[in-house]
Amino acid sequence: MDKQALRRFDHFDQHFIAARDFFAENKLTPKTTTLGKFEQWEAERYKILVGDFFSLETSHLSEVASVYDRASLIALPPALRQRYADHLAAILPAKTEILLVTLEYPEDEMEGPPFSVTEAEVRQLFERHYRVAPLKAKNALAENPQLRERGYRLTPA
Ligand SMILES: C[S@@+](CC[C@H](N)C(=O)[O-])C[C@H]1O[C@@H](n2cnc3c(N)ncnc32)[C@H](O)[C@@H]1O
Repeated sequence: MDKQALRRFDHFDQHFIAARDFFAENKLTPKTTTLGKFEQWEAERYKILVGDFFSLETSHLSEVASVYDRASLIALPPALRQRYADHLAAILPAKTEILLVTLEYPEDEMEGPPFSVTEAEVRQLFERHYRVAPLKAKNALAENPQLRERGYRLTPA
């Protein structure tokens, strides 16, 4: 398997494990169907789409009222982050608020992922679409000496 195929496999594998564990932890048996490029897992009021974020379209998110985005940006290399922010803003229903959680650490101390994403970068990525309000900065040094965790509230501009 070439390197790119291996990366794709790793991602799908991680998404699959996350979806499987979510339903198992909640003692639910999901129904799985194919939805375009996604595998859809569904039980009661939960629906998880397993696949590539960049393949998501407006139609997939029409029922979304708010977003909890934990640690997506820190998984993406810098060059992909603006594409991520623009795509997210483009496919979400109007007036959807986002609770965004990132990590920040001295970049010379560690090579990501997880990457360090500063408040300045969050503003640069999202301020063209949202008002950005820093909510809380938690010092996560106790759990990992190199990381500082941040939360923002993004309100459609
Ligand atoms: C740092 S983890 C955060 C996971 C979870 N949100 C959490 O807080 O535990 C980032 C996740 O983004 C996923 N990811 C990276 N690129 C992706 C893409 N293009 N589409 C969907 N998921 C992606 C990775 O597989 C990884 O599971």
